[in-house]
Amino acid sequence: MRIGILTSGGDCPGLNSVIRGAVMKGDRIYGHTFLGVHDGWRGLVEDDMRDLPRHDVRGLSRQGGTILGTSRTSPFDHGGSDRVKEVMASREMDAVIAIGGEGTLTVAKLLHEDGVKVVGVPKTIDNDLSATDYTFGFDTSVAIATESIDRLRTTAESHHRCMVVEVMGRHVGWIALHAGLAGGAHAILIPEVRVGMDEVVGWVESAKDRGRAPVVVVAEGFVPEGDTEAVSSGGVDGFGRPRLGGVGQYLAAELEKRTGIESRSMMLGYLQRGGVPTAFDRVLATRFGAAAVDAVQHSEWGTMVSLDGIDVSTVALHRATRQLKTVPEHRYEEASILFG
Ligand code: F6P
Repeated sequence: MRIGILTSGGDCPGLNSVIRGAVMKGDRIYGHTFLGVHDGWRGLVEDDMRDLPRHDVRGLSRQGGTILGTSRTSPFDHGGSDRVKEVMASREMDAVIAIGGEGTLTVAKLLHEDGVKVVGVPKTIDNDLSATDYTFGFDTSVAIATESIDRLRTTAESHHRCMVVEVMGRHVGWIALHAGLAGGAHAILIPEVRVGMDEVVGWVESAKDRGRAPVVVVAEGFVPEGDTEAVSSGGVDGFGRPRLGGVGQYLAAELEKRTGIESRSMMLGYLQRGGVPTAFDRVLATRFGAAAVDAVQHSEWGTMVSLDGIDVSTVALHRATRQLKTVPEHRYEEASILFG
């Protein structure tokens, strides 16, 4: 078979490991050939792609970013399923492996419903996709955020300051929860849970009273008290959604005003998505890539590979895309025992 492979949406550590896993298994075990589609769905509708032989994926597992490039283009704005089928036919492409998050996999589901032979691979540092225990990229971003919290804590302690660390997470607070727990934060604020400023002030003051430099970890999508929307840095992203960013700075100013404790903020931003994947993410992503090729081989169209405990299996794409995997209340409560 001739398989097209593409990466779409925000980039994520481990994308190259998936590509390598798929090409290695497809070439060695099934004798498939691959076309690397450039910049996600854009490359498919614009017929922009290249051959991806096995020697092109050598040593790729540890490389950050994606060698194929990515975009947030939707094929439904550029000719839809008919155009995708047309390009696939002209390239003699039998199937597509689409590596992406919620937006990409929703597109894959719609294309599948229109008869396109597609298999998905879940990707997102936010870990917000249902029907898989973990997405690759999440472990790397938590590791980066945790190391950053450790570093920010020592400077905060030296200056007797409060430090607010803003991490990614538009709709869900998994990165904030895990990095905050690992880094021993005195407060963790996530989009799923409304927390009033008085409570945050209480946690910060209690940490300060014990001689600690208070550390607050906040997800970019946290909605501060009195507001109805998350803080935006201005502009919109590829999906037309407001670009988020700035809640950390807002909270630091507010905390300084209310507590009198000198406060600083740090937005970790794209550092969380860049660079080499952790060993966990390399292993998961490589297994996902190999499993995606198995799914193609067995004609499991309209499915996505998924981690279930320690096993990789496939699930219907509609199960993965119907709702986001938010942080359950009990996971937040478990963490909040350590606040203050
Ligand atoms: O990868 C998902 C994500 O990390 C979100 O948490 C965040 O809102 C978004 O990416 C920002 O990415 P970009 O600036 O590329 O749109």
